Formats: sequence, structure tokens, C-alpha cells
Amino acid sequence: MKLKDTTAETSFSYVYLTKRIFKFIKPVLGRVILGFIVAIPVGLLDGVVAYALKPYMDEVLIKKNMLMAALIPFGIVLFAGLQGVLRYLNEYLTNWTGQKVTNSVKIALFDKLVHMDPKFFDENSSGIILTRYLTDPDTASKGILDNLKAFMSAGFGAVALIGVMLYNSWKLAVVGVVVLLVAFLPVALIRKRIKSASNKNMKISGNITTNFNETYAGNKIMTAYNLAQYQKKKFVDKINESFNVNMSLVKRAGWMSPIMYLIASVGIALVMAYGTHLVTSGAMTSGSLLSFVTSLLLLYKPVKTLGNTMTNLQTIFVAMGRTFELFDIYPELKDRENAIELKQIEHGVQFDHVSFEYVEGTPVLKNIDFKVGVGETLAIVGNSGGGKTTIANLIPRFYDVTSGAIRIDGIDIRDITLESLRNHISVVFQDNFLFSGTIRENLLMGNFNATEDEIDNVVRMAHLDEFLHEMPDGLDTEIGERGTTLSGGQRQRVAIARAMLRNAPIVILDEATSALDNKSEAIVQKALDNLIQDKTVFVIAHRLSTIKNAHRIAVINEGELIEMGTHDELMNLPNGKYRLLYEMQFGKEASEMQMQTL
Ligand SMILES: Nc1ncnc2c1ncn2[C@@H]1O[C@H](COP(=O)(O)OP(=O)(O)OP(=O)(O)O)[C@@H](O)[C@H]1O
Ligand SMILES: [Mg+2]
Repeated sequence: MKLKDTTAETSFSYVYLTKRIFKFIKPVLGRVILGFIVAIPVGLLDGVVAYALKPYMDEVLIKKNMLMAALIPFGIVLFAGLQGVLRYLNEYLTNWTGQKVTNSVKIALFDKLVHMDPKFFDENSSGIILTRYLTDPDTASKGILDNLKAFMSAGFGAVALIGVMLYNSWKLAVVGVVVLLVAFLPVALIRKRIKSASNKNMKISGNITTNFNETYAGNKIMTAYNLAQYQKKKFVDKINESFNVNMSLVKRAGWMSPIMYLIASVGIALVMAYGTHLVTSGAMTSGSLLSFVTSLLLLYKPVKTLGNTMTNLQTIFVAMGRTFELFDIYPELKDRENAIELKQIEHGVQFDHVSFEYVEGTPVLKNIDFKVGVGETLAIVGNSGGGKTTIANLIPRFYDVTSGAIRIDGIDIRDITLESLRNHISVVFQDNFLFSGTIRENLLMGNFNATEDEIDNVVRMAHLDEFLHEMPDGLDTEIGERGTTLSGGQRQRVAIARAMLRNAPIVILDEATSALDNKSEAIVQKALDNLIQDKTVFVIAHRLSTIKNAHRIAVINEGELIEMGTHDELMNLPNGKYRLLYEMQFGKEASEMQMQTL
């Protein structure tokens, strides 16, 4: 399934999304609630200073009450101290819970990602996957708690200050609150813009990440073909695009805060005018008005925070919509109900009229039909792009056949659990992938239970020792991302050793020795001959010398099985494709000599 760029129909289904994230909040709910409870007094204490101004003005400045004069400043410091302690606690709790929630969302997503099938990775770029599986959940889950916290303390701050205002004069308070509500209206108007900008930005940032990954992985091609400018231009274009998206959002959203401020100032002006009237007519003390106006001014901060939080929450819900969408993507390949455990293989592997297409409407394999028994080696040869690797891909079920079936001992592999199927297969791919880490770690990935002796054995058989003793730390040498510090042939040998260590009953070798020189190939080939004894083996090779020990040879041309038989049988086919290939590789003479010896 291709991850769409603009997605998440659920972006504004707040209840739905909250329900979904709640599953991740639940395990730490106790601390989340504690954090919120602590946020209440942090907010409320904002009102204390404003409240204290009334007695200060009326009792201290006007009535000259000296006891009060001494107490009020102490009180203020005391409250500030208390507020500080609570703030710290609140900070600690929100970070703790925020990170816990983010981590569990990320872990759950990564778990989904590692179980995705190859098709998913064919369709989605590394950059998009990185942003969607890493950046979005970060924004979503950490943001939601942070902002809820800010929302809580600002909310309670506002409540406390409004309380102080009401206490001083309910009439003035009504004026103040009405103005505030009006000031909030613009927030609701821009959420669509925020959603669209956020979706666009996600896509751009995915492209940028892909650009980085390609610059990394393709650095040699980039240098050799002088593509530095070309790569840079792609990057600059994306950066500019992101700039435009952000600026268009700022253009539309940037006036919100000034408008809110303007409306608020109208409120303050109204309050002052009306307040002056109330004080001069004796309906209110000057202390009350002072306390009221201070509350109103102090109210600006929590209200602004509330406004920002509202805007942030929109971004967060958009990210959350995108994040939870990922949880609803399931790999197309999964165990059938009642799938059976593959225990051992007695008869072999059968391709039963298999057809396959990666992309609908473009057949890559057409009606492939053959059997390979246990102890038998089938070589697959044929034109480049003909479908050889595809045949290899179908056996461990990287993809499912489009029609027909692949059977092991007569059982359709779709009826076998994926894990047990793959446990029975060792592969060496055409484009070998090694993980960053040490050579030993890479070998152990073939079989985590391998003993030291077994490792030594495959190191010798795959001819690794030849270069290992030149490495500073031998088997424990770090080999960089994708094994970049090794030569192509060295990488291939590590991959062969990894497959040997796995020692599985089905062996697939896709151009496994193509990067080795003739001498190394001959030696590794011998080792491979040991590996493949009594196994069901598929060997794909262009170099026909590689397959001379195969029991039978299948010739694949443009997705079709056109010839199959032993070397001798195929050489005897008049106008045979195999014979043609053979003659091209070894020259007419060799082939004639071969014929004479028959
Ligand atoms: N992941 C993929 N998605 C779509 N098409 C693909 C994919 N992988 C391969 N193909 C196409 O399928 C066809 C067969 O490819 P395959 O890799 O099986 O060829 P091959 O016989 O192994 O070739 P080579 O000898 O060059 O390795 C090609 O036309 C290729 O473009
Ligand atoms: Mg191939």
C-alpha cells in the first residue's frame, strides 16, 4: 500500500483520535493524572498575586494597615516558592509521561514496519517512511501531552484570574470574558489551512530525507558523475517549497495573534472606562479595580497560551491522524488461519503453473512449472530481467504468486506459517545487504545459536579467513553501514558464510559468487558444494561455470521456462537457447570439444 501524501481523513475526529492514543496513555495514566492535578495549583497560583493587590491597595495604601503591609510581600514570595516546586514536579511528570507515550507509539509502529512485506518497501521511499514512522509520532504523542499540560495550567490560570475578576466586579468580568471569547474566534477558521500545510510539509520533509539517504548511499555515483549540483538543486527546490508552504500558512495564520491582541486591547479599554465610572460612583474600591485590571492584563498570557495550544493541537491531531493511519496498514502477506508449521522437507519444492506480476497487468513470470527434489540442485539461467530473481523471491514468500502455487512437499507455501517457511531457507542475494556492526554479528544473523566452532568452520569454508586476518579486529571488525568498508567480493563471502551458518534445507544462491575472481570462486564453490549437499538448491548464475555441478538447468526467457534438463540434454537440443549461451561464453571450440566427449 502506497502511503499517500495527504492523508488522514480522521485529522479532525478528535474523539476518535483521542480514543486511539488513549490506549498508549493508559499504562502511564496515573502519572499523567498526577501531572494534571499538579498543573491545577500552578495555574491557580497565578491569581494570587492579582488577588493580593486589592487588600494591598485598600488596606495598606489607603487604610495604612501595617501588619498587612508586612505579610503581603512574604505571602507573595511564599506562593511563588510553592508554585516553583509544583512547576518542577509538573515538568518532570509531563516529560516522563510524554516520552513514555511517544516511545510506546514508536515501538508499536516500528514493530509494524519490520513486519511489512517487500511490496510496501517497493512502493514507499525511505524518506517518507522515516518521517511517517518517526517524526509524526514524535509530534503527535509528545505534543499531545505537552499541550494538554500547557492547556491545563493556562486554563486554570485563566480560571483563577477570571475568578479574581468576578470577585472584584461581576459586571466588569462579563465584559472581559465576552471580549475574550470573541478574540478566540479566528482560531477555528484556520484549521483546514494548518492541515493542508502540515500534510505538504510532511511530504516535503520525506523527500528531503530521501535526498539525504540517496546522497549517502549513492555518494560514489554522485561524485563520479559530478552530480553534486544536481543533488543540491533537488535539495534547494524542496527547501524552497517548504519555505513557501510555511510562509503561506504564516501569511494566513500570522494575523491571528495581532487580531486577538487588538480585540483584547479593546476589552481593556472598555474595562478601564467602565471601571473608572464604577470607582468614581463609589460602586467599586480602587483596590478592586487595580486587582481587576491586573488580572485582566495577566490573563493575556494564559489566553495566548491557550490560543497557541489550540493551534498546536490542530497540528498534533493532523500528525496523529497520519500516525494512527499507519496502524491500520497490514502486510498483505500474513499467516493464514490454521497455517501449519513446516517441520522438515522430505520431497522438495514444486512450482505448480506459477504466474506472477509485481504490477498488475505486467506479467513477469508466466506459467512456470517444475519440481526440485531434496538433494537436487537446479540452476536457473536466462536473459537479464527475465525473472530469475523473481523466482527466488517467491520461495520465501516475499511476494505471493498471482496464479498457480508453490508447494513444499505438496503443501501450498501459503498454508505454511511465514516464520517456519523462512526458517527453512538460506539465501545469498544478488545485492547482498550487510548490517552495520561487526562481521561476527552479521554472521550470527544467519543463526543466533551458532557455536564458536561452527563460526570458525564457515569462516574457513567461505574463504573469509583470507581477508579476516588482515583486519584489525578480525571477526569483530566493524564494517560500516551496509558493509561499505568491505570489497564487493568480501561482502559476498560474508553473505555466503551467513547462509552457511543458517544451514537451512532450502538454499537459494542468486549470483552468489559473481563478485569473486576465478580462483576464489573455485574455492568458495567447493565450500558451497558442501553446504548444498542433501538440500533443495536453486542456483542462479550468468557465469555458466558456476552451475556446472547442477543436476538440472532451467532456462528462463522473458518470464517463461523455455528449456529444462541436464547440461547434456540441453546441449543436444538443436537451436537450444542454453547451447547458444554456452557457445557464446566458452566459444565454439569448447562447445565442439564438449560435444565430442559426449
Ligand atoms: N520490485 C519490483 N517491482 C516491480 N517490478 C520489478 C521488481 N523487481 C523486478 N521487477 C521487474 O521484473 C522483471 C524480472 O526481474 P528479475 O529481477 O526477476 O530479473 P532477473 O532475471 O533476476 O535479471 P538479472 O539477471 O538482471 O538479475 C524485470 O522486468 C524487472 O524490471
Ligand atoms: Mg536477478
